[in-house]
Amino acid sequence: MSAIERRQFDTLIIGAGGGGLRASLQLAEADLNVAVVSKVFPTRSHTVAAQGGMNAALANVLPDNWHWHMFDTVKGSDYLGDQDAIEYMCRAAPKAVYELEHFGVPFSRLDNGKIYQRAFGGQSQDFGGDQAARTCAAADRTGHAILHSLYQQNIRAKTHFFDEYFAVDLLRDDDGHVLGAVVFNIQDGQIVVIEAKTTLIATGGAGQLFKTTTNALINTGDGMGMAMRAGIPLQDMEFFQFHPTGIAGRGMLITEGVRGEGGYLVNGDGERLMERYAPKAKDLASRDVVSRAIAIEIREGRGCGPNKDHVMLKLDHLGEEVIQKRLPGIRQTCITFLGIDPAEAPVPVYPTAHYTMGGIPTNRYGQVVVPVKDTPEEPVQGLYAAGECACVSVHGGNRLGGNSLLDILVFGRAAANHIIDYLKENKYHRVIDEDIVNKVVEKVKRFERSNDTSASKETVAGLRGELKQVMEDHCGVFRQKDILQEGVEKVEQLVKRMVNVKIEDSSHTFNTARVEAFELENLMACALATIHSAHAREESRGAHSREDFPERDDKSWMRHSLYSFENGLDYKPVRTKPLSVKSFPPKPRMY
Ligand code: FUM
Repeated sequence: MSAIERRQFDTLIIGAGGGGLRASLQLAEADLNVAVVSKVFPTRSHTVAAQGGMNAALANVLPDNWHWHMFDTVKGSDYLGDQDAIEYMCRAAPKAVYELEHFGVPFSRLDNGKIYQRAFGGQSQDFGGDQAARTCAAADRTGHAILHSLYQQNIRAKTHFFDEYFAVDLLRDDDGHVLGAVVFNIQDGQIVVIEAKTTLIATGGAGQLFKTTTNALINTGDGMGMAMRAGIPLQDMEFFQFHPTGIAGRGMLITEGVRGEGGYLVNGDGERLMERYAPKAKDLASRDVVSRAIAIEIREGRGCGPNKDHVMLKLDHLGEEVIQKRLPGIRQTCITFLGIDPAEAPVPVYPTAHYTMGGIPTNRYGQVVVPVKDTPEEPVQGLYAAGECACVSVHGGNRLGGNSLLDILVFGRAAANHIIDYLKENKYHRVIDEDIVNKVVEKVKRFERSNDTSASKETVAGLRGELKQVMEDHCGVFRQKDILQEGVEKVEQLVKRMVNVKIEDSSHTFNTARVEAFELENLMACALATIHSAHAREESRGAHSREDFPERDDKSWMRHSLYSFENGLDYKPVRTKPLSVKSFPPKPRMY
């Protein structure tokens, strides 16, 4: 053990996207000793890819207030979101935007100098009335602008970065306290034991579960896998969002901001298809509704192209000036990947895996919570989670576009504030039993390189490809018992085959092949939680659409799922009581 480096921090943050960096900034500014571990250089974290913007009821373009935002979010969640957390987030949103403005985020501006806001799906005025315009944008590169500003602020505040280090597993003692994590340097493989009084997981989602996805290769559910291996269940993993407008067959995101600016979808007969499915909101219905509509059009033979396997997103009527000013990023994406200039011709699109609504269960202070005996939730001491890897749950069964940047910023900050208070009461590092450290360090060695050429050898790329195909085929936009059952069996087989994974002894791979093996292990954990939870939930709600159970069933299923290695599936109640206003009771969802 003596050769292994040990470091101590007040807080360890795993992940350097918007959630991690908003938290680290708050902590560093409170003079705490904070470390951020990131497997990529921080400004390559997936927040950089967020396009359309961040919701906040600023009322810069149309009348608005936080309570309408709350209503839309509860309705968008198909009543599975926890209303205390949703109220907290919607109330905090304007302040979160103004903070960003002061950190230097170059938001687009209206002629009067105020922050530009565009319409996004599922937004309304006056509790379901006319369309609202709530999404604060920096053209269509909002995440990029936010991530870079947060990184610069962190450098100024002297946050300590472990760039290109991979966090493998949490250190958790026999009393259940989390005491940091074991990580390794991707360049040279050196292990570092990071002891921390508090640990925040902010590792983003698991979009790499699916073959066609808007998500970067790095989105492999690392924090979720780590939490599961530490005995923490994952919540609501059956709710995976398919963004309606990924580039057909390839998956790159074409922002909902296109439809917010006036773009619309057409089918192979040239019809505006959303008029049929959402007569009022049309193309700005919520994402689950629009994705299903596209899938139905194609299934019923009204798709576009020689194979009738996509629909068209039309925006050429917006004019080159608007497109260049408001949507320059997606224009470039279409030119690069399709050879199509959207200012001149429509773009082929199809629903694409986009966002993990489920994740590590937390309360609204970012504390990770687990069921203990007869209580639905008790905090895990020393452990926090924020952003897409967490399930607080503000998105419930379906997230509204523009609420994910909001989520990471509001709950990154909330978690940091709770940590600051916690550390006032918990000033010293707990003593770590060396056996616990040794066990985790040994586990880090599980994917050492080898020269094994045996026939039973499995490759990481092979298994990852199979997993993505199984999830795409068995757990997509529409689901059904038999297909899910087959999916459960296939995922379990793939998990078993993980033991035969061997990493080739190749000197030019640095440790990236090992990283990919750990990532696959994390994806496998997420896949198990997702497919088991989807198989068990016999209703349709939000993005979980069961053809054999087409209705929402509040009586039996208005509850959160929890899936763990130890106990399989369990459930806990939805928190329907907001903080200061009346609950929004479940109603049929019309757009
Ligand atoms: O369509 C988009 O720009 C994506 C935004 C989001 O997922 O919130």
